[in-house]
Amino acid sequence: MDLFEYQAKELFAEYGVPVPQGKVASTPEEARAIAEEFAAAGKSRVVVKAQVKTGGRGKAGGVKLAGDAAEARDLAAQILGMDIKGHTVHRVLIEEASDIAEEYYFSFLLDRANRTFLSICSAEGGVEIEEVAATNPDAVAKVAVNPLEGAPADVAAEIVRRGKLPEAAAQGATEAVTKLWDCFVGKDAQLVEVNPLILTGDGRVVALDGKVTLDENADFRQDLESLAFAAEGDPLEVKAKEKGLNYVKLDGQVGIIGNGAGLVMSTLDVVAYAGEAHGGVKPANFLDIGGGASAEVMANGLEIILGDPDVKSVFVNVFGGITACDAVANGIVSALELLESRGDDVSKPLVVRLDGNNAEVGRKILNDRSHPAVRQLETMDGAADKAAELAAK
Ligand SMILES: Nc1ncnc2c1ncn2[C@@H]1O[C@H](COP(=O)(O)OP(=O)(O)O)[C@@H](O)[C@H]1O
Ligand SMILES: [Mg+2]
Repeated sequence: MDLFEYQAKELFAEYGVPVPQGKVASTPEEARAIAEEFAAAGKSRVVVKAQVKTGGRGKAGGVKLAGDAAEARDLAAQILGMDIKGHTVHRVLIEEASDIAEEYYFSFLLDRANRTFLSICSAEGGVEIEEVAATNPDAVAKVAVNPLEGAPADVAAEIVRRGKLPEAAAQGATEAVTKLWDCFVGKDAQLVEVNPLILTGDGRVVALDGKVTLDENADFRQDLESLAFAAEGDPLEVKAKEKGLNYVKLDGQVGIIGNGAGLVMSTLDVVAYAGEAHGGVKPANFLDIGGGASAEVMANGLEIILGDPDVKSVFVNVFGGITACDAVANGIVSALELLESRGDDVSKPLVVRLDGNNAEVGRKILNDRSHPAVRQLETMDGAADKAAELAAK
């Protein structure tokens, strides 16, 4: 799970990493009020920063310096609602302007390929590190971090030295690196990136930007809930998340339900391929109902998919395993009954393909029920073609 910059900096502050003071606003007036508070404290210059989960905000015009509170309000009005690489700006961070002498780069990340943790440090920060690495690889130090040892002072000092940070920043950067490691481990992060880490005119080292990715598998021991803004995604995705479903909205017309991520992925491919013969219809979503496929899970899945106005037909593709096809068929039947009893519209055509464990029994259950919306096909290709054809009608 990626965090917003202001959330990342809150975590940094919790671990004692120096960050500029700032507050979040979601309206221009709030931005003005915050800038006035700073002005009252003798800090009239503030920076207005778009809070979106993507980099390059500065380049895109999402980071602007304001000389006073009125200008902060005007800049917030400009930046709020802005689209940065497909992300709409709903909040801005109003932050005291820092006196930047130099900009560096620092990050800790999980290095999957080498099965270890990695630190990346460079005296050339502020710009995209990939660019620096491509044009001037010697300027980017990559130092593996032993997870058992972490980044105590001596290790941190070595990282900073290899990153070629100047003497003036060495002490402050070393302290920041140790604290960032504590944050990285303490929050179960997969990435902690500070770009730029700056040296101020008066010799302090401060994290001016922050990008943090937390490991969702650590949900049981971390309070990820409080950091998540579920309400900001696609409404169907938000609803699916509430119901614990693995759902991703796509831009096609054929709703997809399958069991197992691999099967669902291949179902998307097969439907996209079949759709070419039917005017280019495409899958409308990814939805993996996992192993269980109980009536409730099936009903939740169908509810989400049928609630998508773009969906014209639904393809339920199930390979019976531990949860056999008869259980899935019963799940589909009860799901339809459940939705009908709630007054939901279940008239969109439902193409079902059951294969694997107890397929025959499952097919018979659906045949006996003979729901008008449901039709069965025996092969995945045949069912994909039928679903695409029905969606194209
Ligand atoms: N509080 C601040 N005071 C002064 N300059 C800032 C401040 N925050 C950001 N900047 C400047 O804006 C640039 C871009 O900001 P940053 O937070 O790194 O956003 P992004 O990486 O998304 O472009 C920084 O490299 C820095 O030069
Ligand atoms: Mg940055």
